[in-house]
Amino acid sequence: MKLANAMVLDVLRLMGVTSAAAALIVPMATGMTLVLCMLTFRQDRPNAKYVLWPRIDQKSCFKSIVTADIKLVFLGGVFFGDELRTDVAVLESKITELGAENICCVMTTTSCFAPRVPDRLEEVAALCKTRNIPHLVNNAYGVQSSQCMHRVQQAARVGRVDAFVQSADKNFLVPVGGAIVAGFDADLVNRISKTYPGRASSGPTLDLFITLLSLGLHGYQKLLAERKRLFTYLQTALSEVAQRHGERVLQTPHNNISMAMSLTRLSPKNATQLGAMLFTRCVSGTRVVARGEEKEVCGFMFRGFGAHSSEYPCNYLTAAAAIGMTQNDVDTFIKRLDKVLSKCMSSGDTDNSDCRPSLKSESERGECEGKGDMVSSIPPDLENQFKTVSVDEK
Ligand SMILES: Cc1ncc(COP(=O)(O)O)c(C=O)c1O
Repeated sequence: MKLANAMVLDVLRLMGVTSAAAALIVPMATGMTLVLCMLTFRQDRPNAKYVLWPRIDQKSCFKSIVTADIKLVFLGGVFFGDELRTDVAVLESKITELGAENICCVMTTTSCFAPRVPDRLEEVAALCKTRNIPHLVNNAYGVQSSQCMHRVQQAARVGRVDAFVQSADKNFLVPVGGAIVAGFDADLVNRISKTYPGRASSGPTLDLFITLLSLGLHGYQKLLAERKRLFTYLQTALSEVAQRHGERVLQTPHNNISMAMSLTRLSPKNATQLGAMLFTRCVSGTRVVARGEEKEVCGFMFRGFGAHSSEYPCNYLTAAAAIGMTQNDVDTFIKRLDKVLSKCMSSGDTDNSDCRPSLKSESERGECEGKGDMVSSIPPDLENQFKTVSVDEK
């Protein structure tokens, strides 16, 4: 057990989080491991009632906060061109409004489906440090991305990161059922370990131990390099398909795992149907997000579910280049997508929603990243509506 934890810590350091002090393999998946972390934070802050959470439409993230029985405060994002980014200004004003001592933690996310991009970890971490609030990072499938790992390391350098959690299966090709919690204070990681009630299965630890031994560092690095190459390959192929069908790949340069393609020519109903058609053709890695979809999760109604925002302006589908994917997988996906799009586009049930083109140039985007307030490409009156996503409790 100790040896496996030490090996995993070594991998996290080699992948970019160089100052991580401890890592622990937990025999539960990411969502439940996040719960364990929040419950540990609460032991130190028994009166803290809230978790501040930049919205990400992945049910397990949301459910983890509900399961920990802590009040959830949603924070909407800010549009920047096609990207949906963290609204640090709203986070700051929420902390002031609620009182830092009443906040159990801020939970940010690195790896997410486009057009959302990784949270602005450095700024959030700096805020957490000055306000003395724990910061939990959901790094679910971020180990495979040097960009995500760099963000975690930089955040810990300039501010506060208490723990970061990553999925074992999403990053290391092992069976579902394990996650890794790591941090910069070995005592805290040890306390998280002690919060686990009772005995635990050694299965996830053994799986990871065997996989790391058989892959070796070079084997793992080779897999990561191939994933990176396939991301570019997929992006090119998806752009070509998009163009053929009068669509475009959304510009989300800060997300280097997932990408999205607009489906402006389809009505929301037809876009949903396209998703179903892809699924029946065994394309499971993509998700179609239909404009304005509503979904109930744990008694909460989400507007625009899947889009991480109640008002994303168009339908789209996402695709990701994850570790373990092959070029053949990409080719098969593109072929099936092309066929299904031809069928749906010719059905005549079109939408013509306008997925706003980016108003900012690439260089302007770069300058804005990580500094001050975000500039949004949506008109100010609309922008205010987007700042805090409305989620109606039933
Ligand atoms: C960002 C994010 N967080 C959490 C999860 C949930 O992971 P798990 O099933 O390991 O609990 C996922 C699953 O895709 C995810 O994408």
